[in-house]
Amino acid sequence: MAAQLPLCNSPTPMEPQEKKVADPRPPSNYADLISALPLEEGWAPVRTRKFQGFWIPEPVLPGIMDMQQNFKARPDDLFVLSYPKSGTTWLKALTYAIMTRTQYPFDHHPLLGQNPHDCVPFMDRTYAKGQASELDAMPSPRILNTHLPYPLLPDSIKSLCCKVIYVCRDPKDVLVSRWYFSNRMRLQSMEPIPFTKAFEMFCEGSCPYGSVWEHVLEYWEESQRRPEKVLFLKYEEILEDPLRSVLRLAEFMGCPFSPEEEKEGVVEEVIKLCSFDKLKSLEVNKTGKLHPDFPLTNDSYFRKGEAGDWRNHMSPEMARKLDRITEQKLEGSGLTLGGVAVEASAAINGDDQALF
Ligand code: A3P
Repeated sequence: MAAQLPLCNSPTPMEPQEKKVADPRPPSNYADLISALPLEEGWAPVRTRKFQGFWIPEPVLPGIMDMQQNFKARPDDLFVLSYPKSGTTWLKALTYAIMTRTQYPFDHHPLLGQNPHDCVPFMDRTYAKGQASELDAMPSPRILNTHLPYPLLPDSIKSLCCKVIYVCRDPKDVLVSRWYFSNRMRLQSMEPIPFTKAFEMFCEGSCPYGSVWEHVLEYWEESQRRPEKVLFLKYEEILEDPLRSVLRLAEFMGCPFSPEEEKEGVVEEVIKLCSFDKLKSLEVNKTGKLHPDFPLTNDSYFRKGEAGDWRNHMSPEMARKLDRITEQKLEGSGLTLGGVAVEASAAINGDDQALF
């Protein structure tokens, strides 16, 4: 149970004290439409359906359809967007801590008693549970999150030109993170997904929320067209220079740190509060759950929090293959991702021995 915390004025964590039981009104009128969509079961127990060109997890699909039709963005909404397993949880914590930094002392902050996903709601699931009214009830400015690829975003987000912060990550680490997460979701009776199988599905773009490359590229291009509205971040760059990243985030969000705040170490406080070690160590993030019916405890969002764990899971050949795909897919865009597999894994492993 979350600790008793002061109620936020704005933005408000969605479920400050009590975990709500799912509303029994799933948007079920899409059932026929959904059952006719191509199905993929390789990441079971989560099945995905191909919707508007992307593989979308079936449980959130009704919510996404509902959201596309009914979500009304507000001009001052801030959207935290990502391909899953790219650092969403961290970015949620950072944006939330930056925006609420004058509302709460850092030793009595909502992030100490609530998971970042409770502070910044995941719209896809909120809609899928029929709880969209909770988003409507949030005071402005709202910070909201979805994993939707750019073309699938509700029109009002695009037409209002809301600010968007997108985080991406080396696809090799995204895959490893996804593999662990999906295996934790597998029921006790299910065998873990072999890494080679996960690798294949990932390369084919058959993954929850589709091809990582298409996802990233759409937001990258949008950030090039409208840099004042779309901030494009890399997980590895935040890790490498959190100070610069947090300053950049605050500037983009329209709440830059004052010289006094900088002098008083407020930026460092934000970084410390949102650090992997700090968040992972909190009781709510060890044993808490996002929803009573969600199969995983919150610790599944805090595994290793490093760049380069792919070295422990794939052979140099696999890494090279993924880097080659990344290079091909991003060719001509001006964006680079990963791309150190050949030299780094050769240096570390010494040869081409596959670990799997
Ligand atoms: P690993 O599985 O590689 O450890 P998402 O939030 O998009 O689901 O991404 C999850 C990944 O972000 C996990 O990566 C997780 O450990 C990492 N992560 C979560 N919180 C973090 C933090 N505060 N700092 C750095 N990494 C974090």
